[in-house]
Formats: sequence, structure tokens, C-alpha cells
Amino acid sequence: MIRLSGVSRTFTGRSGSVEALRGIDLHVGDGEFVAVVGRSGCGKSTLLRLVAGLMQPTKGEITVAGERVTKARRDIAMLFQRPALLPWRSVLDNVLLPTEIFGWPKSKHRQRARQLLEMVGLDGFEERLPHELSGGMQQRVSLCRSLISEPRVMLMDEPFSALDALTREELSVELQRVHMENSATIVFVTHSIDEAVLLADRVVVLSPRPGQIRQIVEIDIPRPRSLGRNAHAEEVARCSAELHELLMEREAPVPAGGGGH
Ligand SMILES: Nc1ncnc2c1ncn2[C@@H]1O[C@H](COP(=O)(O)OP(=O)(O)OP(=O)(O)O)[C@@H](O)[C@H]1O
Ligand SMILES: [Mg+2]
Repeated sequence: MIRLSGVSRTFTGRSGSVEALRGIDLHVGDGEFVAVVGRSGCGKSTLLRLVAGLMQPTKGEITVAGERVTKARRDIAMLFQRPALLPWRSVLDNVLLPTEIFGWPKSKHRQRARQLLEMVGLDGFEERLPHELSGGMQQRVSLCRSLISEPRVMLMDEPFSALDALTREELSVELQRVHMENSATIVFVTHSIDEAVLLADRVVVLSPRPGQIRQIVEIDIPRPRSLGRNAHAEEVARCSAELHELLMEREAPVPAGGGGH
């Protein structure tokens, strides 16, 4: 569904240039859930923005569903760290915003919007304003808004990082359910190893300066998963430990014949 081939991105500014990503090769299958982890500044958000078509790679090519990505697309939804709801619009009207932007009939989508809100436990809140909701509830509204267009691809940049641990876990469980029901292809950036292990089929570990793929870890734990006491606690612990070690390694090993100055 998503294919990156030899993707690099360099930013050039007044104080020199930063190579944010180098030589990224990655294929994300249809319906797959891939998490991306790595230290701050290793290029995770850049990677998502490239796939979303919000910026172009310096080198390499990105395709989604076989088509080269050159601009933002309707079948790709992006969810950011903060909810970014329109404060003067009701919850329901916030969820319906994309349908207005794309000029789709509102009446047809109103029912769907209500279903989505119900699915994330917000039925009864349709007419409230965003400031009347908690941060976690607002992020649920954003999640519904990104689902209303039934995207084939969802790109999520640390969507739960501003929330407390329990709300995060609750939303992660909900996202798992959404993923199982809607079978969208998801790329999910997170700082949390727990979240990655809970959600992903595979976890891409990026190393910094320049951002490169250090390793891809398969998470072969049956779903639905939970972080609490469960039948797969041992596997969860093993995957978490492996990711932890990969993230703690200071530098990637220098490839033979390379790295000399
Ligand atoms: N628009 C930009 N202009 C210049 N440099 C940028 C720009 N966006 C990102 N960078 C640089 O590219 C590198 C990667 O940034 P990016 O935001 O992708 O990292 P990240 O992994 O998402 O970090 P964090 O975990 O802190 O969100 C950083 O060195 C950053 O300074
Ligand atoms: Mg980021």
C-alpha cells in the first residue's frame, strides 16, 4: 500500500543543511499497522509528512496504492499530536468538517459521524463544544474526524502523547478496534515502546543523524492485545526489551568500507 524507495530528505536553511532522512526503503502492506520509533529529531515526523504528500523527498520515490505521492490526498488522513479542533464548532460539526471541505453531502455523513462518536464512547456529546471536553475526549473527536473520510491510509504523529497514561492506553485499545474493523493501513509514530508493542504488526526503529532504518521488529502477538496482565505477557516483555535495547544503542554499527573520513 505504501512504498518508500531510497527516500532521503535534506532541509537547507540559513545555518546550513540538515539531512533528516537518508535512504529509507520501506513497504507497508495493505491493512498493516506499522509503528515508527526513534529518538527525538531522527526524522519520524518528516517521514509521515513525506508520505502524506505535505512535502517532497529530496531523493527517492514514495507511492501509495501504486500512485506516486505528489500532494495531499483524500484517501490519506493525518492525525497530529494535538487535537486542533475548531473551537466554535460542535463536536459533530468538527467530525463533519472534512465532508464540507471535500463538498460531500452532509446528510449522508451525519449518520456515519454519529456512529463514529458512539464507537469512541462520545454519544451524547455531539452538540458540545471542544472546550467542554477533556484532552482525551478531544483527541477522540479528532480520531473520528480523520475516520469520516474512510481513509485507506492513516498517518498518526504521536496522537496520544499529550494524554495521561490511562487515557492513552484506553485510546490505544480503541484504535486497535478501529483498525480491526476498518482495516485501514496505519503508520503510527510514537515515543512509547509500550504503545508500539500494543498496536503494531511491525515496529520500524529509526536511528538519528541522519535518520535511517536501524531495524524492523516483527510483533507477532495475537490480538486483541493489552498491556495489563494477559496471556501473552512474556512475548510483550520480550518485544519491549528488544526495542528498548535498539533505542538505547548509541550509534548504528558502521558498515564495512564506509564511515571513514
Ligand atoms: N521544516 C524544517 N526545516 C528545517 N529542518 C527541519 C524541518 N523539519 C524538520 N527538520 C529537521 O529534521 C530533523 C528531523 O526532524 P523531525 O521533526 O522529523 O524529527 P522527529 O523524529 O519527529 O522528532 P520528535 O520526536 O522530536 O518529534 C531534525 O533535525 C529537524 O531539526
Ligand atoms: Mg516529530
